[in-house]
Amino acid sequence: MGDIGFPTAAVSETRPPAKNKIFLGTFIHSKTLSELEYLHNAAVAVDSLGTIVAVSPDTDIAKAKSTLLPQLNWPSDDTDMVVAKAGQFFFPGFIDTHLHASQYPNVGLFGNSTLLDWLNTYTFPLEASLSSLPKAQKVYSRVIRKTLSHGTTTAAYYATIDVPATNLLADLCLSSGQRALIGRVCMDQLGPSYYLDESPAESLAKTKQCIDHVLSKDPKMELITPIITPRFAPACSAPLMKELGQLAKETDLPVQTHISENKNEIALVASLFPDAGDSYAEVYDTFGLLTPRTILAHAVHLTEKEADLVTERKSKVSHCPCSNSAITSGAARVRWLLDKGIEVGLGTDMSGGYSPSVLEAARHAVLVSRHICMDEGKSEERDKLSVEEVLYLATRGGAKVVGMEDKIGGLEVGMEWDAQLVGLHEVDEEEEEEEGNVDVFGWESWEEKIAKWVYNGDDRNTKKVWVRGRLVHERK
Ligand code: GUN
Ligand code: FE
Repeated sequence: MGDIGFPTAAVSETRPPAKNKIFLGTFIHSKTLSELEYLHNAAVAVDSLGTIVAVSPDTDIAKAKSTLLPQLNWPSDDTDMVVAKAGQFFFPGFIDTHLHASQYPNVGLFGNSTLLDWLNTYTFPLEASLSSLPKAQKVYSRVIRKTLSHGTTTAAYYATIDVPATNLLADLCLSSGQRALIGRVCMDQLGPSYYLDESPAESLAKTKQCIDHVLSKDPKMELITPIITPRFAPACSAPLMKELGQLAKETDLPVQTHISENKNEIALVASLFPDAGDSYAEVYDTFGLLTPRTILAHAVHLTEKEADLVTERKSKVSHCPCSNSAITSGAARVRWLLDKGIEVGLGTDMSGGYSPSVLEAARHAVLVSRHICMDEGKSEERDKLSVEEVLYLATRGGAKVVGMEDKIGGLEVGMEWDAQLVGLHEVDEEEEEEEGNVDVFGWESWEEKIAKWVYNGDDRNTKKVWVRGRLVHERK
């Protein structure tokens, strides 16, 4: 392919002379929440800008050359052919709707802590230390490479309060080719004195600097998008939240924050904001922060009334099951949220969550839904999420959460080619080398292969990853 690791300063400059591409093989994506669509022996044509221009069933390489290329008017010597091997399949790239790029060095480090002591013990010191740009460069480069290697083509990132380091994250996403939302963390209270915005005015000004930086590098937000990021209500004063709500209104930019993750946090919000509504959700609503472009991470303990308000405001939820289990926050009721009409995606929430993998988040979403089901007296069989449903959340659901459902999350004409090539190990008695954690014996149906991937797959199965048609990861 030869187009990996392209240098860049701005999107328009990032484009090496890209070729048109034809992908051939099996394509799988979500048709509905509960149903995957399987397209075998098909061809997908992706133009040099990364847009899917044709999906052609019953097309092998010979037919692609004899029929599809002439139809598209593409010269065959100027078109790359990417053929999936037997047993491999193309799948939409994963969308991680909530993660902290700055916390990546802490994955797995949380001991027995819960949210508020975890923040003080593990999180704030690490985030503060990333004002060192060499350190930020090391951490952010690595987190991008790592998440791409797990098939994450779009990431909604929290950086830190530091402007240069946040801008560096934006630059690195551009140069690595990962689609991303870039959030400078706003917090003017609760944090330690060494890690706080000095005032609401300073927090707002610094947020605007980061927004301007992202827009200067990618004016059309083709790859990177600024996102307004009040950390969570306890860390933001009322004047700051008011300013940020106003900024969201003026700019129509997306917003991300945390909500109702942990019971002590909820009590803290009630004590800090006695005059801003009767609930956590109402506090955000009071300040104009519940918009249709708001991503609310966690939503574990929302009340019926709060969920109704979220539905009414069309705000979205990022479900972070690994994090919710790891730091003992609780079990978010995804079926209940979906039944309310709320769009839900998956988040790794690194490093509240210990894994950079959205596939891991998907399997934990399945397991957490079973715990809800086991919660006697309260729950029903249908609270269980299926393999198909969690894959929907990881792709189409996530796309809705980040407001990009027209562009990503599926493999359809008009969408951009954000995709991964997945390979499962086919057992062969002759060979000796282990290849990944999933063994396929040859008698499994495609549905069974997908289930095996969800429950036992990892980055060893993610052979290649593309964003906007560009190869951004290849497993050696
Ligand atoms: N609430 C406020 N900040 C954070 C954070 O960094 N991670 C999680 N999981 N919850 C938060
Ligand atoms: Fe988080």
